[in-house]
Amino acid sequence: MITKEYIKELKSNGSGAVAKAVAEYKDSKTILFILENLGYLPNNYDGALFIDLMRKDNPKIRFWAVKNIGKLKNPTYLPVLSAFLMKEKNTNVKREIVSSIGRMKTSNSKEILFKSLNDSDPKIVCQAIRALLHFKNEKNISNKLKELINHENEMVKAVIKKDFFANEKTEKPKLPHKETYDYLKNIVVNGEVTEILKNVENNSIHLTFTSPPYYNARDYSIYPSYKAYLKFLSKVFKETYRVTKTGRFLIVNSSPIIIPRISRSHSSKRYPIPFDIHADLVKNGWEFIDDIIWKKPEASVKNRVGGFLQHRKPLAYKPNAITEYLMVYRKETTKLLDWNMKQYDTKIINNSKVADGFETSNVWKIDPTFDKVHSAVFPVELCKRVVQYYSYENDLIFDPFAGSGTLGRTAKALKRQFFLTEQNERYFEYMKSKARIIANPIFKERKTKFLTLNEFKLTIKQ
Ligand SMILES: C[S@@+](CC[C@H](N)C(=O)[O-])C[C@H]1O[C@@H](n2cnc3c(N)ncnc32)[C@H](O)[C@@H]1O
Repeated sequence: MITKEYIKELKSNGSGAVAKAVAEYKDSKTILFILENLGYLPNNYDGALFIDLMRKDNPKIRFWAVKNIGKLKNPTYLPVLSAFLMKEKNTNVKREIVSSIGRMKTSNSKEILFKSLNDSDPKIVCQAIRALLHFKNEKNISNKLKELINHENEMVKAVIKKDFFANEKTEKPKLPHKETYDYLKNIVVNGEVTEILKNVENNSIHLTFTSPPYYNARDYSIYPSYKAYLKFLSKVFKETYRVTKTGRFLIVNSSPIIIPRISRSHSSKRYPIPFDIHADLVKNGWEFIDDIIWKKPEASVKNRVGGFLQHRKPLAYKPNAITEYLMVYRKETTKLLDWNMKQYDTKIINNSKVADGFETSNVWKIDPTFDKVHSAVFPVELCKRVVQYYSYENDLIFDPFAGSGTLGRTAKALKRQFFLTEQNERYFEYMKSKARIIANPIFKERKTKFLTLNEFKLTIKQ
């Protein structure tokens, strides 16, 4: 059996020794093992062996042969790679050829790279762009690349946007990323969220987690139509986008709801809220990141399957709905998550690290919480996970539809700041009453301010 140590030894004896071993072993598995484990190769390494291997039927061998040629970064191999590129049918190998040509960084490669910009595989187009970016200071190259902002593929567009258009429209935030305005810290405002947000600066919020009103399924919110309801949510999340900091998250908890029939001669109607909101969020710049399922025990939800259980007639099957969605979005940015993380100092990063026992799957089994005043409160455990997984200590956490304020109290307990808005006076007073409970460890000794919209406006002016 051939070992990595043996390959190292072969390599030190020159390319002839490697070629001899390849000829000797013949079988694809061993040849691949050798190719995959060659590691670093100097520019002057003889690539003849790899050229031979590019004629093999096995595309994996061809792929690794090209990859090793790429390591040489030697323009001598440009003609032969270009010739192979014309003939190659396997997209993985084609991509690797374009990447290897790019690594040569030679002017002679421009023509072949230009041709690859027309490839039907967007990954090959992206590879060619990456290679051509090396020459982006040349006017004709940058012009050609800029044109691809109108390319039909979203990945291609994103690459071009990052390199040529990233800084053109984005306004520079007034505060460092990890900081926010004092007038938003640990504040609960009683009022209509879109009115309140008009007073909030761009780039203020680190994380939004919310459960919007369930259309007309609960008594606290009534909309003239489903269309009007979706339009309202669209406005809220557009404003949330504006006040969210670069590359930070919005998590929306919702589920399809049912509006009961008005009489026995009508049917009930089901509204797919998360799916309808999703399309609008993405259209408005929220990048879709994840879908998390909140799973409740079956005994805790309304029994819909009872009738079917008795008559068992197909078509009338109505499963018990034990799930809700947590749809995770990120404010669109060309900056990587790493950039966000680097904005914090080591102490904050260490303090915010998520402890062992965190949820590893996207199905979160959590019991619902029932409350005597509010009919749809978040379980604390749900808020805990979201806050811990999607924010750092001291961050500002926002809930536009605060209800009983579960998110605010949990955020504070986890050493974050919160900003809550709630329209209904009864729930606003309920939050206040919770703050007065001495045994309640969250709002207790902390300075939470409960404000009307006018009072809030005044605090901003101070
Ligand atoms: C599903 S509940 C949220 C409950 C909350 N997650 C909790 O833990 O208690 C939605 C809340 O949004 C509030 N609301 C509805 N429309 C609003 C608006 N336009 N502005 C602010 N709050 C609103 C409702 O009064 C309700 O309390």
